[in-house]
Amino acid sequence: MKNASLLISLLLIIGNSCTKPKISACDTQNNKLHFKFDFPIGVAVDHNKLFFQPEYAELSTSQFNSFTAENAMKMSQLQPLEGQFFFDDAEAILDLAVVNRIQIHGHTLVWHNQIPNWLENFEGTQRDWEELLKKHIQTVVGHFKGRIESWDVVNEAFEEDGSLRKSIWLEHIGPDYIIKAFQWAKEVDPDALLFYNDFNLALNEKKRKKVIQYFTKAAAQGLQIDGIGMQMHINTSYPTTTEIGNCITEIWQAGFKVHISELDISINHKGDDIAFPGTEALKKQADKAYVIFKLYQNLPPEFQHGITFWGLRDNDSWIPSTFNRTDFPLLFDREYRPKPIYCKLIQSL
Ligand code: XIL
Repeated sequence: MKNASLLISLLLIIGNSCTKPKISACDTQNNKLHFKFDFPIGVAVDHNKLFFQPEYAELSTSQFNSFTAENAMKMSQLQPLEGQFFFDDAEAILDLAVVNRIQIHGHTLVWHNQIPNWLENFEGTQRDWEELLKKHIQTVVGHFKGRIESWDVVNEAFEEDGSLRKSIWLEHIGPDYIIKAFQWAKEVDPDALLFYNDFNLALNEKKRKKVIQYFTKAAAQGLQIDGIGMQMHINTSYPTTTEIGNCITEIWQAGFKVHISELDISINHKGDDIAFPGTEALKKQADKAYVIFKLYQNLPPEFQHGITFWGLRDNDSWIPSTFNRTDFPLLFDREYRPKPIYCKLIQSL
């Protein structure tokens, strides 16, 4: 008899724990990250994963209210052959965004990377190069007109010493290509917000000052440039809180909106041989994100364009394949489970 009641109690305990899954306070079923903030919370999304991995789509559309196409709006994707535009993938992302009331940040009209093969072999005069860039920008911006909130018009045009990057565009068009790109975009969609986007702006004061100076001068001469994107591919130690704070402040005080446009926080930037992230590292990552969000919340609202994470799960991140190391820089693990960084943002802000 005693044994029978023990068995029943045991069964009850097991049954209970099966039917009632443990709900953590930062469960993604019960929380939506973007509900916590007054500014957009974005994620860089991959077209194939969105349409072939239902859990990926579910988590992206429930936790975020802004999408950046991780690759689908780059020149190599949108104009793979000269004069032939391919909008299908970008359109599919846009459709999904519309249904879920998610805004789109367009990335990116002019960049030196991910350019189509035909362009690498293109031969022509300066005028021909200008014409082709103008055509690319105006076709793409025109195609999405009224449906895309904001564009990264030019991406990564400055070197680390603050000089203009010796890119294909500088070489063939000359330094005015940056200003012209903004003008061409504005001609076609005057309502879209136009951004300049770059990395290391918080870490590298020299580069940041040159970038801000450049666009302050351009704006004073009448150019429409609404904001500056700080990519923020960072790690748990650098840049420091002070450096990040200075960068945010300097951008908005110069009159530009601030977009934290590609946030990921590396916990293995030295490339150690680690299979799993340690508890301490995950905590440092969570603390870093918290500080960034706090600094960002202090911005006057009209200068907040949002914070965008560069990918959904750790295994979606561009970092491991690009830098050839294991890393865990994002909000969710490969099983779509929230990490401490997500929990900290959900719970403490
Ligand atoms: C990266 C993507 O995440 C990768 O999938 C792709 O292979 C290369 O580009 N700065 C940028 C982004 O502005 O477009 C880059 O995205 C990451 C660095």
